[in-house]
Amino acid sequence: MTMKRVGLFGGSFNPPHLGHTRSAAEAARQLGLDMLIFMPTGKPPHKDIANDSPASETRLELVRLATCHIKGAAVMDYEIKRNQVSYTYDTVRELMSIYPGCELWILMGSDMFLYFPNWYRADWLLKNTSLAVFPRTDDLKEILTYAEKLQSEGANVRIINEQPLVISSTSIRMLLAQRKGREYLSDIVYSYIIKNRLYGALPDFDWLRRKVDMMMEPDRRAHVRGTENTAAELAVRWGVSEEDARTAAILHDCTKRRGRSEQLNILKKYGTMSNISKMTENVLLHSETAACIAASRFGVSNEIADAIRYHTTGRAGMKVLEKVIYIADYIEPARQFPGVQTVRDLAFYDLDAAMIQALENTLSEIKKRGIEPDKRTEDALADLRRGHVL
Ligand SMILES: [Fe+2]
Ligand SMILES: [Fe+2]
Repeated sequence: MTMKRVGLFGGSFNPPHLGHTRSAAEAARQLGLDMLIFMPTGKPPHKDIANDSPASETRLELVRLATCHIKGAAVMDYEIKRNQVSYTYDTVRELMSIYPGCELWILMGSDMFLYFPNWYRADWLLKNTSLAVFPRTDDLKEILTYAEKLQSEGANVRIINEQPLVISSTSIRMLLAQRKGREYLSDIVYSYIIKNRLYGALPDFDWLRRKVDMMMEPDRRAHVRGTENTAAELAVRWGVSEEDARTAAILHDCTKRRGRSEQLNILKKYGTMSNISKMTENVLLHSETAACIAASRFGVSNEIADAIRYHTTGRAGMKVLEKVIYIADYIEPARQFPGVQTVRDLAFYDLDAAMIQALENTLSEIKKRGIEPDKRTEDALADLRRGHVL
């Protein structure tokens, strides 16, 4: 395949953010590139890669996701596959052998540009390629002066005219661990980072609520918001993580709208809850499938997944977070049924007494309807009664 104009944009892309993709897409437009190659670095020559970085293959996948919407973009694993310090010189030689006769543009930020004379075989690169530079607002003058100097020596340099997004991957990594930074990433990249908990990322709560809202019937949202707020208050009262309680509450009913066959498909996919009979009610399936989705799609911890898993039945040996979610789901403000007020009154005074009351109510309600109660509910009650001193 003959390529006339090829752009090369290398970097750690750790993670790839909107600053990278917007600048690159803008450069491709201004330079009239036929192809724009994103080249994640294996071991960059100028700096060490951060310690908490995901595996190279994961960075490669992130760059694929980040650039999938850019026309003419391609992601190459040449530098990652080499697994040694890579010089742009080697990469350029490789690209020239793949695309003989192409006009090759190297895209770079201004700090890399000012450092250019120190690049390996800089003179050869200046003779055989063209440079495209993304200036920052504060160094435009310096960049222009330096570009003029190189041009007077015969180099081909273009300053990309754009308003750069001022953010670095380093700061984004720090923000992600504080439930921030989402606005600097494309949604597909952010979702992948959260799902796999890269960089110790925790989900932004507004983002999580919106994702779960899309999975639910609109009339369930008020119940879920009520559960979240009640769970947060209970968590503070009983000394467990408020953020974990919010996360579990937001997700606890996320699969409730799915039909029985969809529920069973989810269980089959994640291979849990093997003892499902035809009798197993949908109301029991949704807590298990919600736990599976919470873990696989939103990367929650085992503790949070268990709080979701047992929010309908309870179980023997419930952790405090599990009780908090169980009770919050039971007493949130929209709940109006006989006996709820007693549990509400107990919940902030004696959590186990509230659990016992709620489980007794539930078991008697189930028996009234002629349904066989779930063994885990009876176990939960017996266990709490044993340990509870009034
Ligand atoms: Fe539920
Ligand atoms: Fe619920």
